Amino acid sequence: MSSVAAAHVSRTHTCGALRTDHVGGRATLVGWVNSYRDHGTGLVFIDLRDRFGVTQLVFDREDASQELLQAADALRSEDVIRVSGPVRTREGGSNPKLETGAIEVVAEELEVLNKATTPPFQPGDTSNLPGEETRLKHRYLDLRRQEMQGHLMTRHRASKVARDYFDENGFIEVETPVLCKSTPEGARDFLVPSRLTPGGWYALPQSPQIFKQLLMVAGCDRYMQIVKCFRDEDLRADRQPEFTQIDLELSFVSRDEVIEICSGYLTRLWKETLGYDITSMDVISYQDAVDRYGIDRPDRRIGLELVDISDIAAKTDFKVFSDALAKRQGVVKAIRVPGGADKLTRKLTDGYTEFVKQFGAGGAPVTKIVSMPDGGLTFQGGIAKFFVPSVRDELISRMQAKVGDVLIFGADTHAMASKALAELRLKVARDLDLYPKPGDANFWNFCWVVDFPMFEYDEETQRFYSMHHPFTGPRADHLASFMAADPSDRDALEGIVTDGYDIVCNGSEIGGGSIRIHRQDVQSKVFELLGIGKEEAREKFGFLLDALRYGAPPHGGLAFGFDRLVMHLSGTDNIRDVIAFPKTQTGADIMSDSPGPVDPKQLEELFVKNDGLPEA
Ligand code: AMO
Repeated sequence: MSSVAAAHVSRTHTCGALRTDHVGGRATLVGWVNSYRDHGTGLVFIDLRDRFGVTQLVFDREDASQELLQAADALRSEDVIRVSGPVRTREGGSNPKLETGAIEVVAEELEVLNKATTPPFQPGDTSNLPGEETRLKHRYLDLRRQEMQGHLMTRHRASKVARDYFDENGFIEVETPVLCKSTPEGARDFLVPSRLTPGGWYALPQSPQIFKQLLMVAGCDRYMQIVKCFRDEDLRADRQPEFTQIDLELSFVSRDEVIEICSGYLTRLWKETLGYDITSMDVISYQDAVDRYGIDRPDRRIGLELVDISDIAAKTDFKVFSDALAKRQGVVKAIRVPGGADKLTRKLTDGYTEFVKQFGAGGAPVTKIVSMPDGGLTFQGGIAKFFVPSVRDELISRMQAKVGDVLIFGADTHAMASKALAELRLKVARDLDLYPKPGDANFWNFCWVVDFPMFEYDEETQRFYSMHHPFTGPRADHLASFMAADPSDRDALEGIVTDGYDIVCNGSEIGGGSIRIHRQDVQSKVFELLGIGKEEAREKFGFLLDALRYGAPPHGGLAFGFDRLVMHLSGTDNIRDVIAFPKTQTGADIMSDSPGPVDPKQLEELFVKNDGLPEA
């Protein structure tokens, strides 16, 4: 390297690079002042941080020049500096917590590249972090934290593995429009007014669903895209209004082929990011999932399965049971909590009644299993008095209950009881600390849920909705009965099953998809059953219906929730942790203060009238 070039070298190593091999050489490092320590021993220590790690710098009060020491003493957290000097073995003993912990750099030259004003919090001091709001407001500081850098890195790796893996499997990445027509994924659209078409609006895509199907019609064969999707829906810890999908579509495939290819990605991803071997992914039916876990995204690591005891409950004179059984699709279900008698205090079980009320259920009756003097088992407390001995024994046998167990009941319509018990099951597991911990052999549980019903009926609006989306086809063996179904025949329609599938990781839906409809007549029939008239179907989906007539290949696909994947890999349960610039629970970006007002002139140009907010 010429001397002129050398003068321009901004660094020789990153702050994570130096090891004992480098001892005896010189290094030039750049980065942020992570911490400053002066123990009064004549040495000043500065930890210098960049994305790659932390390196200890030493300023020796005896050897260093006055000018250098003054500059070092003036350093404050988050100042940006460049330092050069020899690398030596760490004199105070190595620090195993740092990858560079065996060495230190003796600072001989120091250049302050930029002074920082006192930050609202110190990214280097994890013991003293402020609340999330402050961190979001100064996100660029929060992202300097090594933990957050780790999440960004995991995200980068996950997208790289996706691009590599799907490329190796014949997929090509194609971008689809962001300004488009509304796609029905079940949420509200974000709308964008068009200046060039007065009164016209674009919708931001809830997913590229229709476009990816059109790419199959176009002969792309295998498509993938890492793509932003926008949904204006109520936010939760695992939901953002703008989020990212790994979106996939394949021509000429069966459900099992899609499942195999997608399982392959997950296996590679877990291996390459966590070094973990996924050895099994069970496939269970939707019906099985809802029957046993009350939900179509079961966490199967904690036992506590739901058991249908409607037939036994019918033999009691407990009004809660008989009222539930009198309802359409009424059921009584029970969960057995092994050893629960010792751990589930009265306070906890009383709380369960309140807990299930938020999911619309009336309560959560319980009883304990105790032994009788003759060694037999009986119920104690709660609803014990409603069971005559023979019915009690039948229930004990159905539940395979043992002394010290607790039974918790749910009685309502199938939908309501399932929902309440599904949530209660997880709460009991939390209360009793039944979840495996990271590192435990059973920490990861993946399962595919298949055979979804095509439609679900909404009592409130008295109509059918697509369980997945309206482009999901009936399973081949249900096609004939689907085509023959009368819109008013609720039982027949509720019985139609699709080739839809979800992939669930530890109780969280990390992806979903289906084999699609590729025939125009079948697609039109779905619209008809969903109450979308011919004219509306033409207006909204005419381009898709047309395309299906020009030789659409059989096709299917899936979309992974990319942020959720990264969330799991990063060991956080907050989706915001894995998005560089996320929105709050109210959909706001509190750093840039958006959404915010716009200039009335802009609205005028867009032909949008703003009459102000509705009266509170
Ligand atoms: P779906 O609506 O099931 O399917 O979405 C696919 C996956 O995206 C993730 N996801 C979200 N992640 C964060 N925030 C959100 N608001 C959010 N909504 C969904 C979930 C979900 O499993 N077009 C279809 C896919 C297909 O049929 O191929 C679709 O979007 O992990």
